[in-house]
Amino acid sequence: MTVSGPKKLLRGRVLNFHAEPVDENDTDAYDYFEDGALVVSGGKIEAIGDYETLRQPGSVEVDHRPHFLMAGFIDTHIHFPQVQVIASWGDQLLDWLNNYTFPEETRFADHGHAADMARAFFDILTGHGTTTAMSFCSVHAGSAEAYFTEAARRNMCMVGGKVMMDRNAPDGLRDTPQSGYDDSKALIQRWHGQGRAQYAISPRFAITSTHEQMEMAGALASEHPECFIQTHLSENKDEIAYTKSLYPEARDYLDVYERYGLVGPKSFLGHAIHLEEREIASIAERGAHPVFCPTSNLFLGSGLFDDGGLRAEGIGNAIATDIGAGTSYSMLQTLNEGYKILQLQGQKLHPLRAFHWITRGNAASLGMEDRIGTLHAGSDADIVVLNASATEATALRSKRAETLSEELFILQIMGDDRAVEQVYVAGQAQKSGTRPEAAILRSA
Ligand code: GUN
Ligand code: ZN
Repeated sequence: MTVSGPKKLLRGRVLNFHAEPVDENDTDAYDYFEDGALVVSGGKIEAIGDYETLRQPGSVEVDHRPHFLMAGFIDTHIHFPQVQVIASWGDQLLDWLNNYTFPEETRFADHGHAADMARAFFDILTGHGTTTAMSFCSVHAGSAEAYFTEAARRNMCMVGGKVMMDRNAPDGLRDTPQSGYDDSKALIQRWHGQGRAQYAISPRFAITSTHEQMEMAGALASEHPECFIQTHLSENKDEIAYTKSLYPEARDYLDVYERYGLVGPKSFLGHAIHLEEREIASIAERGAHPVFCPTSNLFLGSGLFDDGGLRAEGIGNAIATDIGAGTSYSMLQTLNEGYKILQLQGQKLHPLRAFHWITRGNAASLGMEDRIGTLHAGSDADIVVLNASATEATALRSKRAETLSEELFILQIMGDDRAVEQVYVAGQAQKSGTRPEAAILRSA
């Protein structure tokens, strides 16, 4: 775990959400300080406000003007062992899993490989402004061990779990109902609540788990209500048909998970595109979270997520990259493709709601908005510094931006890791060698 360092004052254009903005006029939902500052101490945010009010003689000051300071991004569905699967050509879900994903994940039996990939994974995440993620590790307990060890070394708030999968997968990539239970249990005991780590019980999806394994996953969920649950649901029509053939007793796909006690407020259901009416009503009633994965859904040709329809039922949708079917680690690019998917359905994704979604919104789905996803005093100091003029094209476009929403929308549509000037994890700067104009260290 890294030390948090001395008290710092970060200066910039500070944007912090209290609630989901209804529209661009909903200024009650957020605070915006044009010449703002954050006081960071002991890995936490101590104060937020105007620079003139917060400046203190003698404190270390980092001047990030004219860039934005926002809460670090949260990615609620990503596959750690797929860092070398992203951009694999040609297939839809089931063939893509069999031809590319499963062979790659078998490599994570090797501890050295898992440790190397964990370092790369967290470097890439922070480079894209993501400070918290909920990740699927491979079936191997060692992959989750590598994941949590590296997250702890960086003092990052990370959720994850080893996938449970005991059928329809190649040799070297299957556990058993008992070993899946035992390994998950040991990982929960070792990691859940250790520092900033949180465990997610992770039956991969109905197709790769037998009834016996689903029962074991359900046992873990009832023994560990403090843990999250993550899985996949109704992503692809062939997947749904195959699932129904494997679980003929289930009323629908979601019912497979319901029968084993796997659907509740801590459940994250990746994709949830082709839902039946009963499934939607049950997700709403149980308070589970569908996870919208725009770049993945387009890449695999899976379908269009009905954000508006689910929200109208009171469902709290999360949003995520789903690397390696997703095509960008950037939550900004995720918003870009998300915007287009909603456009195709006559729905809108306003920039204020968009930025709320990838910060406080996802944090609220995780039930962690008191710690991450906001810049409130007392929150963990996970912060992203965003430059809306990082490239020639965005700089040119930004010259015509007249409002906060317009500038945010440029980031939402054109932004990626190049817009990320700096990232703080528990108060610690993660990027070295930022551009000279970006951060001027001086004493006030
Ligand atoms: N369904 C089961 N496993 C996976 C996976 O790794 N990626 C995606 N996109 N869907 C899945
Ligand atoms: Zn996934």
